[in-house]
Amino acid sequence: MENSKTILVTGGCGFIGANFIHMANRVRPDWRVVNLDKLTYAGNLKNLEGIQQGENYRFVKGDICDAALVARLFMEENIHTVVHFAAESHVDRSISGPADFIQTNIVGTFNLLEASRSCWFGQDKTIELPLFLHVSTDEVYGSLGETGYFSETTSYDPRSPYSASKASSDHLASAYFHTYDLPVIITNCSNNYGPYQFPEKLIPLIFHNSMIGRELPVYGDGKNVRDWLYVTDHCEALVAIIELGKPGKSYNIGGNNEKQNIEVVQLICDTLDEKIGPLEGGLPRRSLIRYVTDRLGHDRRYAIDASLIKENIGWQPSVSFETGIKQTIDWYLSHQEWIGSIIDGSYQEYYRKMYGT
Ligand code: NAD
Ligand code: DAU
Repeated sequence: MENSKTILVTGGCGFIGANFIHMANRVRPDWRVVNLDKLTYAGNLKNLEGIQQGENYRFVKGDICDAALVARLFMEENIHTVVHFAAESHVDRSISGPADFIQTNIVGTFNLLEASRSCWFGQDKTIELPLFLHVSTDEVYGSLGETGYFSETTSYDPRSPYSASKASSDHLASAYFHTYDLPVIITNCSNNYGPYQFPEKLIPLIFHNSMIGRELPVYGDGKNVRDWLYVTDHCEALVAIIELGKPGKSYNIGGNNEKQNIEVVQLICDTLDEKIGPLEGGLPRRSLIRYVTDRLGHDRRYAIDASLIKENIGWQPSVSFETGIKQTIDWYLSHQEWIGSIIDGSYQEYYRKMYGT
C-alpha cells in the first residue's frame, strides 16, 4: 500500500503526541504507530483511550535516553518515520530544575538520531524514503518586541533552559542532515492549546483553577503575547509535512492568533461564567485573577510567520482562537474526571512550590 509505513511516535502519551495519534488513527488508518513514552508526570495512558494495541498500534513504556531500547525498537519494528515529540516541555519546570531537560531533550534526541542513522544507513537499505521529523518550538528564536515575526531564517536566541535544550536538539538534528544526509525535518511551532493539555500550562491551569475557585496567577503585567494554535491544526500540519515536506528544511507553524495572556485569562473567565454561571456568591470568575511575580527571563512576545509552510505544503491554520477556546472549554467541561484523574499528589506539591498556595 502506498501509504503503509511504521511510525515511531515518541512522547505519544503527552498532549500533542496523543492528539497526533488520535488524528493518525482517523485520517491515516494504514499507518502503524509505535508509541515510545516514559510516562513522566506529563504522560498519561488515559490520553489515548480508544486506541487499541494491535496491528496498527503498539505502546512501549520506555525512555528515549535508553539507547539499547531505542536501537532494539528500530530493528524490531522496521521504523520508517520518526515523529519526535518526547520532551520535558514546561518552561517553569526548566527554571526550577533544568537537569531533566538536558537529559531528555538533548541526550534523548541524540539517541534517536543515532538509532535512525545506524538503522537506516548501517545495513542494506530496505527502507525507502525514511524521515526524522523533529517537533520543536518557536521559543528557540527568543523574544520579539512589539512588532515583527519569527521566520525560518530568524537567528536562534533561546533564553530559558527549556528553549536552550530544544535549540540544542534542533542543531543536532540539523547537523545529522548536513553531515550524514539523515532525512531530517524540523518544525518550530507556537503555543498549542486544546484537549489533553496538562494543567501546568496556562489555559488548562486557568480553566481548572476557575472551576475550583482557586486564584488565577497571571505573571508580571499579563501583557506577554503568545500566538495560539489549536492542537489539531498543528497535527494536520505534521501529517502534511510527513507527506510533502522536504528533508533538510525547517518549517514554522503558527496560529496567527496573537493574544496577551490577560486577554486569554479573561476570556476563559467570561466564557465559563456564561456557560455555567458565576462563582458561589455570584462573583464573576475575573475576581480570582491575581498578578504574581513574573517568570524569570519571561519572553515578551512570540509571533510566527507561517508563509513558508503555506506556500510549500499548502497548510494554514483553520481554527480561530474564538472557536478553538470555546471547543477547548467545552472539552474540559465534559472531561472533568480526566483532569481529576491525572493530577495527583505530585501535582499538588508542584503547585504549592510554584504558586505558594
Ligand atoms: P507534554 O509535556 O505534554 O508531553 C511530553 C511527553 O513526552 C509525555 O508523554 C512524557 O511522558 C514523554 N516523555 C518525557 N520524557 C521522556 C523520555 N525521556 N522518554 C520517553 N518519553 C518521554 O509535551 P507537549 O506539549 O505534548 O509537547 C510535545 C513536543 O512538542 C515537545 O517536544 C515540545 O517541545 C513541542 N512543542 C510543544 C508546544 C506546546 O505548546 N505544547 C509548542 C511547540 C512545540
Ligand atoms: O511557544 C511554544 C511553547 O509554548 C512550547 O514550546 C512549550 O512547550 C509550551 O509549554 C509553551 O510555552 P509557554 O511558556 O509560552 O506556555 P505556558 O502555558 O507555560 O505559558 C503561556 C504564557 O502564560 C506565558 O507568557 C507565561 C504565562 N503564564 C503561565 C502560567 C503557567 C502565566 O501568566 N501564569 C501561569 O500560571
